[in-house]
Amino acid sequence: MAEMNTRRTGKSAKAVVAADRTAGADKTRAAAGQTAGTEKSDAAPTLEVKNLSISFGGLKAVDGFNVVVEKGQLYGLIGPNGAGKTTVFNLLTGVYKPDTGVILLDGKNITGRKTIEINQEGIARTFQNIRLFKELSVLDNVKVGLHNHHRYSTLEGILRLPSFYRVEKEMNERAMELLSVFDLDKECDYKASNLPYGKQRKLEIARALATDPKLLLLDEPAAGMNPNETAELMETIRFVREKFNMTILLIEHDMKLVAGICERLTVLNFGQVLAQGETSKVLNDRRVITAYLGE
Ligand SMILES: Nc1ncnc2c1ncn2[C@@H]1O[C@H](COP(=O)(O)OP(=O)(O)OP(=O)(O)O)[C@@H](O)[C@H]1O
Ligand SMILES: [Mg+2]
Repeated sequence: MAEMNTRRTGKSAKAVVAADRTAGADKTRAAAGQTAGTEKSDAAPTLEVKNLSISFGGLKAVDGFNVVVEKGQLYGLIGPNGAGKTTVFNLLTGVYKPDTGVILLDGKNITGRKTIEINQEGIARTFQNIRLFKELSVLDNVKVGLHNHHRYSTLEGILRLPSFYRVEKEMNERAMELLSVFDLDKECDYKASNLPYGKQRKLEIARALATDPKLLLLDEPAAGMNPNETAELMETIRFVREKFNMTILLIEHDMKLVAGICERLTVLNFGQVLAQGETSKVLNDRRVITAYLGE
């Protein structure tokens, strides 16, 4: 665990990638007329979304959605079934292109970019229905995530040149570190589909983190979990935020989990923002109780 943190703050290749990103964000801000020096380098929120909309046929699934998620925040997106929450994630990750709106990641406009590019810019996600490579090992599932950042040419891979082995070794080590953080290292050779459900959810989070994101999107991570698994998941999410200094946007129907870990909430209803703000205030908002929570 300690090693993971050291790696993130040390002079690893990943740290260099992170430094490049910061430099990129600085350039973007400079281009937007914001002077370096008068502004802190981390002044832009991790995520800022303005007026995001998409229609499917006649249905406005997301309609004028706005949100600001500050760095390090644990932010919840809640609302009734069909409100548009997963569609927001699909828009943020480039699965759908928005009809209107802007998505800024660390101040950089990523609207309309491809899914793989957005992941490389720093957004990773998990899915409402777990999506793992079921036939692959636990270790290989995490290595798939790492592949987004580690590069060797196809030729090096085919010819098994020395750089291939070096990168492979590095990836194995890094994947094992991540698995041990999630207490999955002992199951590294298991087929992913043979893990119990709660551990599959954890593995999905580990794989998302392997892409070294700035923002982690979790779509109903507690879905299908029993109360013990949910309590453990809460700890895992807290842990990820604290130890990886991660910014997390979370969709969830389990209000105990939401109230327990989210600092701020946005409530979606029929594609529109119904309420937004501090968790306790939003959960006590009469409109939210009427539309979603019930008495
Ligand atoms: N690709 C699509 N084509 C047509 N309609 C879609 C598509 N994706 C989503 N929708 C519709 O958009 C609306 C919002 O769906 P979405 O999955 O975002 O809801 P949700 O808030 O995530 O709900 P849940 O809590 O049940 O997961 C729904 O009416 C859904 O049927
Ligand atoms: Mg959904």
